[in-house]
Amino acid sequence: MKIQSLFTKAFWLALACITLVVVTVFKLTPSLAYSTTTPPAQLSTAQAAVAQYDSRLAKAPPYDSRSPEKSLYKRLGGYNAIAAVIDDTAQIVFNDPLIGKYFIGLSTNSKQRLRQLLVDQFTQAAGGPAVYTGRSMKLSHSGIGLTNAEYDAFVNGIAQALDKNGVNQPEKDEVLAFANSFRGEIVER
Ligand code: HEM
Repeated sequence: MKIQSLFTKAFWLALACITLVVVTVFKLTPSLAYSTTTPPAQLSTAQAAVAQYDSRLAKAPPYDSRSPEKSLYKRLGGYNAIAAVIDDTAQIVFNDPLIGKYFIGLSTNSKQRLRQLLVDQFTQAAGGPAVYTGRSMKLSHSGIGLTNAEYDAFVNGIAQALDKNGVNQPEKDEVLAFANSFRGEIVER
């Protein structure tokens, strides 16, 4: 009788342990799977939030590492390739004879912040795994009084950087179309 109750206790203890293991594994598996196969839920939520104030980013395809479609992000060569284009763009526009003056007073960290926001903005727009967290284009440029010629100089800097990094014409056209789409919000006179 005593041995029987001991067996019953052992049985329930074993069952409890198995349940615990099963629950732990099932709880962990989806979050492990996230990082490699499906886009993280947080990223989609953040992208949707940003889309509320920038309709262009709303059109950006959600990042999906398994997508059979070759997104612009993949065709450009991924994050490092986009960062290299933005770094070269920054070098060009910061030293441009027409628009370099707008960046003279920026601290090194302000320049780095601007660079990172551009990387995030272009990466997200191309369908990559970044979220733009800066201000809207209207808000961040309003009051500077930029002209069409100055805007052209900025876009020309992006074009030169794309050439320097050997980006092919179809991808170059797509990036420049995105860059040109801000004109109405940035140019003031
Ligand atoms: C394709 C056109 C352009 C794009 C995509 C662009 C993008 C951006 C972004 C993402 C920011 C950061 C916003 C933030 O601080 O939250 C920014 C800020 C700024 N942009 Fe532009 N921009 C463009 C054209 C221009 C032009 C033509 C000029 C001047 C000639 C200019 C001057 C500035 C300045 C001075 C800031 C503020 C930097 C700071 O507050 O630290 N941008 N721009």
